[in-house]
Amino acid sequence: MPNQTSKAQPGGGGLLGAYAADLAGLAAHDRLRRLAPRTGLDFTSNDYLGLAESPEYAQAAAAALARGVPLGAGGSRLLRGNHPEHEALEKEAAAFFGAESALFFGAGFSANAALLATLPQRGDLIVHDALVHASAHDGMRLSRATSVAAAHNDVDAFEAAIHAFRRAGGTGRPFLIVESLYSMDGDFAPLADLAALAERYEAFLFIDEAHATGVFGPGGRGLAAALEGRDNVVTLHTCGKALGLSGALTLAPRVLREFLVNRCRPFIFATAPSPFLAACVRAALPIIDGAEDRRAALAARVALAGRALRRHGLAAPLSQIAPIVVGSDARALALAAAMQARGYDTRAIRPPTVAEGTARLRVTLTLDVSEAEIAAMIDDLATEIARLAS
Ligand SMILES: Cc1ncc(COP(=O)(O)O)c(C=O)c1O
Repeated sequence: MPNQTSKAQPGGGGLLGAYAADLAGLAAHDRLRRLAPRTGLDFTSNDYLGLAESPEYAQAAAAALARGVPLGAGGSRLLRGNHPEHEALEKEAAAFFGAESALFFGAGFSANAALLATLPQRGDLIVHDALVHASAHDGMRLSRATSVAAAHNDVDAFEAAIHAFRRAGGTGRPFLIVESLYSMDGDFAPLADLAALAERYEAFLFIDEAHATGVFGPGGRGLAAALEGRDNVVTLHTCGKALGLSGALTLAPRVLREFLVNRCRPFIFATAPSPFLAACVRAALPIIDGAEDRRAALAARVALAGRALRRHGLAAPLSQIAPIVVGSDARALALAAAMQARGYDTRAIRPPTVAEGTARLRVTLTLDVSEAEIAAMIDDLATEIARLAS
């Protein structure tokens, strides 16, 4: 038997040495990630409304199987893979969110990256919020358009970037890229001001609603609900967070959907998402629509957490995402480990996911834990933060 371990020694050269050295470098900087089992009370998932394991979903899944919806699509949407469940979902989602059309992707990451790689053209300008998700960055890297970052939630910075582009002779179309609710900070984009800016400069506005869908807006339609259906607005509603499933719906004017169907390589050259998943997302939309009680219960948990955190001198969250910023990677890891030892599933979020020096616990509030459990967790968190400082 060849000795796999020795082949992968850092600095050992050979086929695997460079990878092993990279991993050793990550470990030396407290940046090595490992897959960990699910244990402890859930303060880390995005299953905000507690739907992922709900009986309603089990029933919807059983009904889809019973009516013969297949698990696999068998091919690309442009070939044999286009199933009536995909088409029905897209029709229903467009009506649900109030847009002209919808296109279903297998994951939010690929949808976001694909949109940004496909819609802005050579000569166009992408101005993105400094805190947009990795998937947007990957799309921008593939795009032929120029991209620049604007300071987080700074509408003037977005405008300044457009001015600088025009001054430099840029004539293409601006695309403004934001999240309605930021995934690692839990704060909100100034959507009305961004929409006004987009109108003023005839720009497109892309709004990633990943963490708002299901939780905010009328019937859980998101924070951009009032903007859906505009010619210059494209939204992304991921289905793996509050919807408790997976996949993503892109809502856009009909002509953009058709453009994506013809030009979007990750859509064209990929096996279509599971029709079974599409059927489950179809079932989820009316469940989300009617989930006012769940949204109210989540809002109550956010308010309770805010009061408890403030009592301990910590910042109250603006949403169901509570960033507990501790600074160094080592401190974030130590705090996460201490909380895990107390039975809480909290995870350290480190660069490059967040900026250098802002490592944190990203504590999420969901209906998977009770108010009493949240209160106890925050008392324990304050104790562990104090211990870390001593
Ligand atoms: C803001 C944002 N956009 C997109 C994604 C990707 O979505 P998905 O998990 O469906 O791939 C995520 C997931 O972490 C996200 O936080």
